Amino acid sequence: MSEQVSTLTVTDNRTGRTYEVPIKDGAVRAADLRKIKVDDSDFGLMAYDPAFTNTASCRSAITFIDGEAGILRYRGYPIQELAEKSSFLEVAYLLLAGELPTREELATWEDEITHHTMVHESIKKFIDGFHHDAHPMGMLVSTVGALSTFYPDAKQIKDPGLRRLQIVRLIAKITTLAAYSYRHSVGFPYVYPDNDLSYAGNFLNMLWKATELKYEPDPVLEHALDVLFILHADHEQNCSANAMRAVGSSEADPFSAAAAAIAALYGPLHGGANEQVLRMLREIGSPENIPAFIAQVKDGKKKLMGFGHRVYKNYDPRARVIRQIADEVFKVTGTSPLLDLAMELERIALEDEYFVSRRLYPNVDFYTGIIYQAMGFPVEMFPVLFAIGRMPGWLAQWEEGLLDPEQKIARPRQIYIGHGERPYVPMSERSQTAAEDVDAIAAQAAQAAPDRPLR
Ligand code: SDX
Repeated sequence: MSEQVSTLTVTDNRTGRTYEVPIKDGAVRAADLRKIKVDDSDFGLMAYDPAFTNTASCRSAITFIDGEAGILRYRGYPIQELAEKSSFLEVAYLLLAGELPTREELATWEDEITHHTMVHESIKKFIDGFHHDAHPMGMLVSTVGALSTFYPDAKQIKDPGLRRLQIVRLIAKITTLAAYSYRHSVGFPYVYPDNDLSYAGNFLNMLWKATELKYEPDPVLEHALDVLFILHADHEQNCSANAMRAVGSSEADPFSAAAAAIAALYGPLHGGANEQVLRMLREIGSPENIPAFIAQVKDGKKKLMGFGHRVYKNYDPRARVIRQIADEVFKVTGTSPLLDLAMELERIALEDEYFVSRRLYPNVDFYTGIIYQAMGFPVEMFPVLFAIGRMPGWLAQWEEGLLDPEQKIARPRQIYIGHGERPYVPMSERSQTAAEDVDAIAAQAAQAAPDRPLR
């Protein structure tokens, strides 16, 4: 969809000069600002955008989000339809290939994934080395990164066949690594994959199999998990996708890039939020404690975890689907008292001016934790489940970045606000100095060259 290129007319009041800056796809190129200078020695104007709140880092065809309208589509298909009619592996194929697979293509894809779930036996030694209470996300970051040492051919990122092989390996093996991490944390033996089972069914097998000869997943929980993976499969340029693209831009192998993405997801403001929602609900304990908790949130002492979003200023469409899945799961597991508490917390928040004025609605993480807990997962495993679902999205973003002719190694610029040049101070002349006021230093630097911050 290419629109008529129009322009922005900019007058630099420092020089009185006027410039025409092209506008395309609703954006100006930051590089076009560099021609705006005070004189020939000037570096030129930069765009300053901490946390990239208004910066497009790429052109992508994978996922579309309309935050105002609460719309989410993978390759044009609405998330609600995919959750109802598709499967996680079919959605993974869609994200990566750009089209829904034919029956034969899906069968081949499923077969490839199924036959790559085994990991090298040495991986068990890595996992055995972790402390018994090691967080499974820490184990996942480490073991996914370690996979790069078993597959040196993964460095050949320009070879499409080898890229696809690593993509298959990562989607397949992340379930095994996740299950092994859980089994280590509870002191149970590792369970090998069962190729007779579906992707979600085999994951449940590797998690929960005890002494029975063959694990048989509950079909309702198997389906619920598959849908939850679909809902987490991609979300355009979120923090962890940005990490995946940035590391991939240096042409590192995809295992190393995926380890960076998992590390980003681990943060409580991102994928770690689903674990924090459960901890928050447990802390609140009962509905009569909600007003006091909300007061702490309004005082800035706490965040209402599972609420708010950088893009959605409406109800996260995934949260609506997840709320429906909760009812399916609780028919099997029995309901959770935390669900009633979460619903009351949501009701109160959605009527409260603090949240309404900031357009804070439940996001994907608000209800997932309650479902995972009812399914028997410990809270530490919640972000691990997010990572499993997000793997195809990370890989689709990674490959799209590699194949984009406009992309190269990610290397942002900065506005330097530190010291100007100063001579080395011999130890004998040093004194205990208070923590320096960076702003005061910046003010000095600005006095030296008012229109030419150091870069
Ligand atoms: C995910 O990017 C993605 O797509 C992420 C994700 C994906 O699929 O990849 O959707 C997954 O990460 C979902 C988000 C999970 N995180 C949480 O639930 C943690 C709680 N939420 C917040 O930390 C926050 O809402 C963020 C991090 C999600 C978004 O932060 P922004 O866009 O930087 O918004 P902000 O911090 O600038 O907030 C705007 C205002 C601020 O108040 P004021 O300074 O204007 O007074 O809203 C307030 C914030 O203090 N606010 C909250 C809040 N979220 C924002 N106040 C209380 N509780 C919250 N949860």
